Amino acid sequence: MRVFSGVQPTGALHLGNYLGALTQFVRLQEDAECLFCVVDLHALTVPRNPVELRRETLQVASAYLACGIDPAHATVFVQSHVPEHAELAWILGCISTFGELGRMTQFKDKSQNEHNVSLGLFAYPTLMAADILLYQADAVPIGDDQKQHLELCRDLTQRFNARFGPTFTLPEPLIGQVGGRIMSLQDPVHKMSKSDPDSNSRIGLFEPADIIRQKLRRAVTDTGREVRFDQEVKPAVSNLLEIFSLCSGETIATLEARYADSGYARFKADLAEAVIAKLEPIQARYREYQAAEDVVRVTLRQGAERAAALASETMATVRERVGLLGPGD
Ligand code: TYM
Repeated sequence: MRVFSGVQPTGALHLGNYLGALTQFVRLQEDAECLFCVVDLHALTVPRNPVELRRETLQVASAYLACGIDPAHATVFVQSHVPEHAELAWILGCISTFGELGRMTQFKDKSQNEHNVSLGLFAYPTLMAADILLYQADAVPIGDDQKQHLELCRDLTQRFNARFGPTFTLPEPLIGQVGGRIMSLQDPVHKMSKSDPDSNSRIGLFEPADIIRQKLRRAVTDTGREVRFDQEVKPAVSNLLEIFSLCSGETIATLEARYADSGYARFKADLAEAVIAKLEPIQARYREYQAAEDVVRVTLRQGAERAAALASETMATVRERVGLLGPGD
C-alpha cells in the first residue's frame, strides 16, 4: 500500500493538524510505503511573505520529524522540489470543470469577502489531486475538512482513466473516527483552524506549557456541570474529551466515568497536563531539529530524489496518454 499526504507551510501547526493528520502519518509509516510532503505551492494560493514561507517550509519538515516520522521509513520532501506536481496539476486542470471547483466549500469560505481571488486558490484542489495521483497513492490520511477535496480527486481519477485509459490508482481517504475533526476551543461548531483570528481557539504544537494551561482554562464549555460525550448537546465538552482521549490514550468512557461529577475546572486542568505530556517530547525533538537545520535539509534533498523518481515514471505515462509529443518521438 502506498500512502501520500501533505501539510501546508502556513502558520504554526496546531493540535487539529497533529491529531487529525500527523498521528495517522506516524502510525502508517510502519506498514505502508509513505510519502509526506510540505506543500509549499499550495501555500502560495494566498499572499505570502517569501522569507516567512521559506522558514515555515523548513519548520513543517522539522515538525514532521519531531512528531516521529522516520526518513528511513517515509519519504519527506517539499512539493516544489518535484516540478511534476505543477505539470500534472495543469493537465488535471484541463479536465476539471469550473462548476465542480466552484462548489468546493473551502474555496467558498476562503474567497468570501475577498476582492482579488486568485486562480491558484480556485485551482487548489486540482493541485492536491496531482500530488496524490503522481505517486499512485492508495490511501490519503487527512482530517475531515479535506474530504470534499479527496472526493474531487477521485472523480478526476475516474474521468482521466475513462478518457485516456487506466493510468491512475483510485485513492481512498483515511479519516480518523476520533480526531478527524478537532473543533475550536472558543466556538465548538467550527473546526480548529490556523486562520482563526482568535489564537485562544487553538493550541499550537509548539506552545509553552503555561499558555496551553491558560488556553484550556479559557476553553468554552456547555451548560450543566456534567462531563459527558454528546456532540449534539455538549459539543464543547465532547471536543475536549476527544482531545483528552487522543493525548492520554484512555478511552472516552474511562474519562467520562472519572470526571462525570468532578466539575469542569478539574477536568480541564487534568486535560491540560495530558496535552502537555503528549507535546513535550515532540517540542524537545523539534528544538533539536531547529538547531540542526542541515539534517532537515539533507532529509528533504534525499526525499525529493526518491519522490522525483516515482513522479517522472507517472508523468511519462501521462504525457504519452494525453498525446504530448515527446522530444525523442
Ligand atoms: P493543511 O495544512 O491545511 O492541514 C494539514 C492536515 O491537518 C488536517 N486538519 C485537521 N484535522 C482535524 N481537525 C482539525 N481541526 C484540522 N485542521 C486541519 C487537514 O485535514 C490536513 O489533513 N489541503 C491539505 C494539504 C494537501 C494535501 C495534499 C493533503 C495538499 N495536497 C494531498 C493530502 C494529500 C491541507 O488542508 O493542509
